[in-house]
Amino acid sequence: MKTLIIYFSQTGFTRKVAEQIRDGVAEVSGHCDLTTLTDVKPESLADYDLVGLGCPVFYYNAPFNVRDFMQGLPELVDKQWFVFCSHGSVMGNTLILMAEALMKKGIRVVGYHDTYADGTIPFYPYPTLTTGHPDEREYEEARAFGREVAERSRRIAGGEDSPVPEAEEKNPEWTQQAETFSLDFLSQVMPRMRINEEKCIQCQECAENCPVGGIDVEADPPRIQDPCIYCWNCAKICPELAIEADWDGVVSIAPQNYARYREVLEEAAARGEFRWLMDPDSLDFEDPLYKQRKRQIKGK
Ligand SMILES: Cc1cc2nc3c(=O)[nH]c(=O)nc-3n(C[C@H](O)[C@H](O)[C@H](O)COP(=O)(O)O)c2cc1C
Ligand code: SF4
Ligand code: SF4
Repeated sequence: MKTLIIYFSQTGFTRKVAEQIRDGVAEVSGHCDLTTLTDVKPESLADYDLVGLGCPVFYYNAPFNVRDFMQGLPELVDKQWFVFCSHGSVMGNTLILMAEALMKKGIRVVGYHDTYADGTIPFYPYPTLTTGHPDEREYEEARAFGREVAERSRRIAGGEDSPVPEAEEKNPEWTQQAETFSLDFLSQVMPRMRINEEKCIQCQECAENCPVGGIDVEADPPRIQDPCIYCWNCAKICPELAIEADWDGVVSIAPQNYARYREVLEEAAARGEFRWLMDPDSLDFEDPLYKQRKRQIKGK
């Protein structure tokens, strides 16, 4: 059985989960290819018996670049795919929305898997509510999922009746949130970033790691957030903190957002679906990640 796993990952959690799923699949079928969203060749997809697509959750949904990828896929009628994601406190309906996008291409979705993971956003406190995830137990769950989905796919291909465990039912609160956080909305409410040319050392880190080619540091003036999917990766990785923004507005709403995130995690913990690996009372809203990085850079 020829299997491929495609992933998009910025801080590495989805990649690590993808590697575990790959190992699980390979235990059943001997081999499994792994590639990034950037490197995948759409024309090769029809050659695979089973394809996995994984990404982080951004704004209660798959990131915009992953949504564009799914929308741009050719028809792949009756091909078997599975979807997976890593996320912080609120996965929302991400896996269902991904499955719906794939089904529009005729794809048959044969598996769903999600993993809690740490999260880093410049205007949010760090450590965060899900810091410590995924742990070894969750990596083992990802390997087990790989074995299960490969076995199921083989049975389906052999004409056996092999029911696919259902993804969770859609929750209207998260559907509404996912719809609210459109690119247009984000462009209106999120801070504008700028590149401080006095600090920039033209290392190209930001430009090379922007998932949508939205940065050109050599342009005059430097181009940033054009286009942008509001992933904040550039601001997080710039070694000189030369990418600046006025974060105060979004920092001020963090306590209110986190109260809801915590509630959702407490509900998940009560259902046995989440384990606290940090003390939720220890969050320091006065010390968001961007301030911590400023101190680190000053101390270099
Ligand atoms: C811009 C942005 C938006 C995010 N939105 C959500 C969200 O809506 N729900 C959630 O549970 N986690 C959210 N997260 C957390 C990520 O899903 C989580 O950190 C993920 O594991 C990162 O995956 P990666 O390491 O593969 O990049 C967000 C992270 C970023 C950077
Ligand atoms: S990462 Fe920072 S220093 Fe490097 S090119 Fe981008 S803005 Fe300049
Ligand atoms: S410009 Fe920065 S925030 Fe926007 S998509 Fe690129 S890396 Fe992400």
